[in-house]
Amino acid sequence: MSAPQIGVVRPESPVIPQMRVAPPCAFVVFGASGDLTHRKLMPAIARLIQRGAIQQNVSVIGVARRVQSGQQFAAGVIKAFEEFAPGAAGDADQARKFAQRLDYVPGEFADPVTFDQLRAALERHDIEHGTGGNRLFYLAVPPSEIETILTQLKASGLISAPRGQPWTRVVIEKPFGHDLASAFELNHVVAGVLDESQTFRIDHYLGKETVQNILVFRFANSMFEPLWNRKYISHVEICAAETVGVGTRGKFYEQTGVLRDIVQNHLLEVLALVAMEPPNTSDADDVRSEKLQVLRALRQPWADTIVRDVVLGQYRGYRLEPDVAPDSVTPTYASLRVFIDNWRWQGVPFYLRAGKQMAKRVTEVSFHMQAVPLSLFGREGVCEHLQPNVLTLRIQPDEGIRLNFASKIPGFDQMVGNVAMDMNYVEAFGGEPPEAYERLLLDAMRGDATLFSRRDAVEASWRWIMPILEHIQNEPPKDFPNYEPGSWGPESALALPRRDGHHWRSL
Ligand code: BG6
Repeated sequence: MSAPQIGVVRPESPVIPQMRVAPPCAFVVFGASGDLTHRKLMPAIARLIQRGAIQQNVSVIGVARRVQSGQQFAAGVIKAFEEFAPGAAGDADQARKFAQRLDYVPGEFADPVTFDQLRAALERHDIEHGTGGNRLFYLAVPPSEIETILTQLKASGLISAPRGQPWTRVVIEKPFGHDLASAFELNHVVAGVLDESQTFRIDHYLGKETVQNILVFRFANSMFEPLWNRKYISHVEICAAETVGVGTRGKFYEQTGVLRDIVQNHLLEVLALVAMEPPNTSDADDVRSEKLQVLRALRQPWADTIVRDVVLGQYRGYRLEPDVAPDSVTPTYASLRVFIDNWRWQGVPFYLRAGKQMAKRVTEVSFHMQAVPLSLFGREGVCEHLQPNVLTLRIQPDEGIRLNFASKIPGFDQMVGNVAMDMNYVEAFGGEPPEAYERLLLDAMRGDATLFSRRDAVEASWRWIMPILEHIQNEPPKDFPNYEPGSWGPESALALPRRDGHHWRSL
């Protein structure tokens, strides 16, 4: 029975502090002719301009192999604005003005000439557009290119000293490594060129408004924190279900699979945020240190527990996708039963699930509270409807927070029903929340690394997931494909929460 909604929460006296705008800088995108640049990065820049967060003295310089002029690049960027952020770039006149701050450097990443030209372009923008010598480099390139680019940046003197002025920062796109050894190696390479304070490892989940709200919800309200532990919470579900398949990304996905693509990064980041202890302050390192403690407390999976606590799936039809092997054993679905061995969470199962081609697009975290110790309303037909409270943080779509609880059904008998209080972001605050990349680009420009992954956390998450990846490699699943597109994954996933007397939340 779906619970009736009994209230829509509206913000009362919202506190809107002054927005800190981006400082003067040049935003340099390596891999500028790629999909990410056009679909995400440039539309995010357009919206930041529209919101007034980026002002006159920010330039954008693309670097890529494709030979094209600055004007051609600018025309492509303006087209991307129109396609992916319609209306954000303002009228034709504003778009034309912005196009003057766009530049392009064609060339090979291994060729020092490319970097000489980049330096010349940066110096020109410092003079013509007042970018102040500050540089934000964005590596929207495969991991194999990162070392080459960083080495060249360093050799051409384009990396300034850490914590000084003008500043240099580098944003590195996921996947950050393919396993623990490669992540470690990559971190080693990065640390040879950059200070950790200059390194911004992006996980776009952390830029989602609703993921950021996890901290506010937990630590700006006093009523939830006392309940946020093993005494009151019976289990937690974290779900990231997508309706799309792998589409044209078969080549990438064959190397990745759902465990590397979603679980090792996005889901573990969310898990760390919901399970962490209160940090001393909201400073980047205080928050990230507490998240790290959660990752370190994750119970290490062993061969026997992996067989029991990890269910993998592959949707029917995946093997027919472009660039996918006809006998591929790459999982497109995973559900896991995970424990955090610390004082707060001992014994509370966290069920994670992620998958492509699922019945519905939904990303959410739900906290299932313990059942009441004694039902006072014990007549037949009353108790059977009594459900433990569930608090749901809806990350996307339909961003919001919902609390389910029991209520008396009006009438002469003691009938109990389930109802819900629901906060919906759009209704409460008006307008869609900003896109993840908007917040993350702005934070990187402002030098706030709170929403970026720190080296130790990236290594801790790989360290935890490695036994699972190794197990699959040694014993590849034999029942693939094992779920229908548009379903909730393989049948065998039902057994995962059932072992503890629970079931997946129906979504
Ligand atoms: C990316 C994955 O990191 O996240 C994709 O590589 C996935 O496979 C995407 O589709 C999901 O992001 P979002 O923001 O659409 O939930």
